[in-house]
Amino acid sequence: MTAPGGTPRQMAPPISAADQLIVALDFPDAGSALSLVERLDGIARWYKVGLELYIAEGNALLASLRARGYSVFLDLKLHDIPQTVASAVRSASRSGAEMLTVHACGGPEMLTASADAAGDRTRILAVTVLTSMDEPQLAAVGTTRSPAAQVELLAELAFAAGIRGFVASPQEVGSLRRHFGAEVTLVAPGIRPLSSDPGDQKRVGSPRSAIAEGANYLVVGRPITRAADPAAAAKAILMEMETTSG
Ligand code: C5P
Repeated sequence: MTAPGGTPRQMAPPISAADQLIVALDFPDAGSALSLVERLDGIARWYKVGLELYIAEGNALLASLRARGYSVFLDLKLHDIPQTVASAVRSASRSGAEMLTVHACGGPEMLTASADAAGDRTRILAVTVLTSMDEPQLAAVGTTRSPAAQVELLAELAFAAGIRGFVASPQEVGSLRRHFGAEVTLVAPGIRPLSSDPGDQKRVGSPRSAIAEGANYLVVGRPITRAADPAAAAKAILMEMETTSG
C-alpha cells in the first residue's frame, strides 16, 4: 500500500508505555470493574468500557472512572443510520469518553456524520472487519473479498470520511501504519504476553510486536483481568512494551 498523497509520514515521538495500555473492563457490573481498577491503581491510566458494562451501568460508571482521573475508551461499535449514529456520538462525547468506536461498514455517510458529531475530546475509531469474521463468515454476508482486502477498503473509506483512528488486530497494524503513516491512531486488541493463554482470540500478537508494528495503544483484557495478580500482570506487560517504546 502507498501512503495517501504519496508522502511518507513520521511516527509521533514515543510516549510512556503506561499511556499506551488500555485495560478492557469486561465485567457485568460497576462493583467488579471498580475493584479491578483499585487493584491497578498507579499502574493503568486507560480503561475500555464495552457494551456489557455500559448497558449495565451507563454514564455513571464513566463518570466514576473520570473522577478518579482515568481516560475512557467507550467501545460501543455504533452502526445505524447516519442521523442516529451522529446523535449517539454527541451523547457519548458529552460523557467525556476520549475514544469511541463505530463500524466502518456503516458506510461513507454514517462515517462522515460520526466524524462531524464528535466533540473535541472524543476521537472516533473505526472498526473495520471484526476478528471473528473469517472468509466464510464474510461470504455468508455477501462479501467475496478476503478479510485483508476488506480491511483495506473499509479503512480507506473511513479515512476519506475524516476518521483518523482504527481498531486493528496485531496482524493488521503494520500494514495500516505503513499505509496511513503517523496521522492515524492505531488501537490493537488481541494482545497476549508470550507466557499467556490466547483464549478465544485467534489473530493475536505480543505487546512487544504490536508496539514495534506501530500500534499507539494496546487493549488488554483477560491477561490482566483474569490474572491471579492483575497488578503484576499489568506491570509485566508494560515492561514488554517498554523494551521497544523506549
Ligand atoms: O480479554 P481480551 O484481551 O481478549 O480482550 C480484548 C478486548 O478487546 C475485548 O473487550 C474485546 O471485545 C475487544 N476487541 C477484540 N477484538 C476486536 C475488537 C475489540 O478483542 N477486533
